[in-house]
Amino acid sequence: MSPLTVRSVDYSPLAPVYTTITRLLTGGGVERTQRRLLAHIKPGDRVLDAGCGPGPFNADLARCGAVVTFMDLSPAMVRRAQTRVEAALGPSHAHRFQVGDVFTHAPPQPYDVVIAAFFLNTFSWQDSQRVLAHLCGLVAPGGTLCIADEGRSPRPWVAAMLDLVRPPTLSIYRLFTGQPVHGLYDYDPVLLALGWTIERRERDSRDYLVATAWRRVA
Ligand SMILES: C[S@@+](CC[C@H](N)C(=O)[O-])C[C@H]1O[C@@H](n2cnc3c(N)ncnc32)[C@H](O)[C@@H]1O
Repeated sequence: MSPLTVRSVDYSPLAPVYTTITRLLTGGGVERTQRRLLAHIKPGDRVLDAGCGPGPFNADLARCGAVVTFMDLSPAMVRRAQTRVEAALGPSHAHRFQVGDVFTHAPPQPYDVVIAAFFLNTFSWQDSQRVLAHLCGLVAPGGTLCIADEGRSPRPWVAAMLDLVRPPTLSIYRLFTGQPVHGLYDYDPVLLALGWTIERRERDSRDYLVATAWRRVA
């Protein structure tokens, strides 16, 4: 595969049911974890929501007073994100909705905040590291990289249960999207090596769901 491409997963077949499925599977944990990222967004910020998906978080984000680019490979996801935002704010707003591949996204200016919510884990480990490095390059100096994702539970029995349950669950996603079935990813060593530092990390009550804000070390 060319270094200019990654193998992406288009979630279009899941667009109508994605929010309901994730809500049921995580007891609302995905939405709670996404919302923790809102604390890192200030009015006027330029924000990229990479792989925005269709959920209510899109409307929450749009209400923060930032100017958001909602980007997803799936036209069905972008349509749903736009419908959510316009149901919340009406048709006149400054947000942008873009169908496209985040990995080839080259904005004229960097963003104050880049959000990767349950996005990096849709790639193979090798590709997720390349996408992560690309996202880092889209953040302006002094800006924030916000990641919401699965992480290893600090409780050994929860971690062991998840190791059992994740493969069959991911196989269902794979059936519809072709997404690779893989173990948990740990982005910390990658970001630390790239010169980033954790500004704030919060775990959901479902403690395998983690929201982290990263800043580049000056
Ligand atoms: C697991 S969903 C997460 C959606 C949302 N961020 C959330 O937290 O619920 C991953 C999304 O990333 C999108 N996606 C995958 N690869 C992409 C790429 N290269 N560029 C843009 N979007 C991509 C998929 O279509 C899907 O909507």
